Amino acid sequence: MEIYSIRGAITIEENTSENIIKNSEYLLKEIIKQNKIENENIINIIFSATKDIDKAYPAIATRNIGITDSSIMCLQEMNVEDSLPMCIRVMITAKLDLAKKDIKHIYLKNAKKLRPDLSIKGFSVAIDGPAGSGKSTVSKRIAKELNFIYVDTGAMFRTVALYCINKGIDCSNANMVANNIEYINIEIRFLDGIQQIYLNGENVTEKIRTQEVAKGSSLVAKIPCVREKLLKIQRDLAKDNNIIMDGRDVGTNVLKDANVKIYLDADVEERAKRRCKELLERDIIADYQQIKQSIEERDYQDKNRDIAPLKKAEDAIVINSTSLNIDEVANLIIKNIKENIK
Ligand code: C5P
Repeated sequence: MEIYSIRGAITIEENTSENIIKNSEYLLKEIIKQNKIENENIINIIFSATKDIDKAYPAIATRNIGITDSSIMCLQEMNVEDSLPMCIRVMITAKLDLAKKDIKHIYLKNAKKLRPDLSIKGFSVAIDGPAGSGKSTVSKRIAKELNFIYVDTGAMFRTVALYCINKGIDCSNANMVANNIEYINIEIRFLDGIQQIYLNGENVTEKIRTQEVAKGSSLVAKIPCVREKLLKIQRDLAKDNNIIMDGRDVGTNVLKDANVKIYLDADVEERAKRRCKELLERDIIADYQQIKQSIEERDYQDKNRDIAPLKKAEDAIVINSTSLNIDEVANLIIKNIKENIK
């Protein structure tokens, strides 16, 4: 069992003792039910109430529902200008048999506005751009902060390339690849929120990160039957999930109706430097000129192919990350997502 702090909040209609206690009970019961919290595992509970609530302590609700031997406190919430009125917030610290990602923070009535990311469903963010523009690093950061799933579509093309390389199939031979496509079974799973990709039952998440596979991936990406097969997997993942998906054709093709579209770019020199650094972190010493050349080749192939080429969607926001750090890019995109959620 791990110790977690679970958050929640609710608004009340009137500043009366009955309303305060009734709503606090409702909020506590929902948090307890949805997180399967046992009474004896609750360590402490902290309530706050906005300045306009003063007719009763929300803590009374804890005793009413049988929580009698945990430490409880009630405080006044910071009185921030234009903040949500008549709101009771709570934080429960408890021992739970859950993974952190499965914790459910509960926001009820008008308090839903405090965490719009928790109450929406099927919100999609498309991030496209050339190799090394920072898509995956930034997307992972955003997905973690907003509790979205992150899908890396490039990994799927890499997996097809890996299959071909392993079988000695030329990645640019469309007929040979097409003859084998039915034997390529790709599956996506999530481990602690991180995408894992399986090729015919084998986890190849690490194996696809080589220069050879990268080169092969932009060759197989030109083949119609490959794109068709992967498109289905990509669209299925976007159903019912709040998703951030990156690639080359997400905003223009895979998720044409994405709620937010970003085209992330950076100068090729900066992208090559980042790739070298990334490889070095995995103890692979890379030649800068070679990496730069292979990025340029991939850019060319991706931008000039006939089907679903890399290009900015008309309604995408362009961010050039050459002189921005990860936090700056992530914050720009998060700001945009939050504006679109409201
Ligand atoms: O993003 P990553 O470098 O892993 O992508 C590998 C290759 O897969 C790209 O160079 C591109 O050719 C192809 N790709 C694509 N469409 C996507 C994602 C990747 O054609 N949506």
